[in-house]
Amino acid sequence: MKLLRGLAGHPLHPPLTDVTIGAYTFATAMALLSRVGVSEHNTATAWWLGLIVALVVTVPTATAGFADWLTIPPETPLWRTATLHLSAMLTATVVFAIAAGAGHADYVDGTVGGGSLVLTLVGFVLLTIGGWLGGAIVFTYGMRVLKLVDEPTSRAISPLPLPEKEEAEV
Ligand code: HEM
Repeated sequence: MKLLRGLAGHPLHPPLTDVTIGAYTFATAMALLSRVGVSEHNTATAWWLGLIVALVVTVPTATAGFADWLTIPPETPLWRTATLHLSAMLTATVVFAIAAGAGHADYVDGTVGGGSLVLTLVGFVLLTIGGWLGGAIVFTYGMRVLKLVDEPTSRAISPLPLPEKEEAEV
């Protein structure tokens, strides 16, 4: 479980979220471009493949987030915010999965149908809300933030754990 959380000062969930959010954002942009007729067939293909890539990378992303979530004392404000984040992200994932499943015919035809576009946009709004809530976990509550302002650069960027600082973690 510790491996899934990453190292102190270098948690695993945040970099994975960049890849995941990037892939969903790409897919959403491709859906919009396809609908307005920009290289319609190619962008429809890119939309669907983007969704599949995003859904695949969601698995390790959500797993790393879950490993962090398990360490939060239940029923605290941080836990409630993190649980809202979890719910928003899992709902977004389900909506994107439905868009990909139901939109397979659109992928084959090379057009993004109205239903596929709506599902993709709804998923993206939920993803954005989830990202906002994730930001609160880190930047409001300071979860996984060490804030060792005097830490020498060589130690701060080191991939080695900072064991003596572990207690500073939330
Ligand atoms: C699509 C899946 C998910 C995405 C895109 C995502 C995105 C994010 C983002 C953007 C942050 C703020 C950190 C940063 O700015 O990089 C965050 C933090 C966090 N998320 Fe998620 N999240 C996902 C799934 C989950 C799940 C399923 C859980 C819990 C079961 C979870 C738990 C957490 C926790 C505990 C934090 C704060 C500490 C940390 O960085 O691990 N996340 N998430």
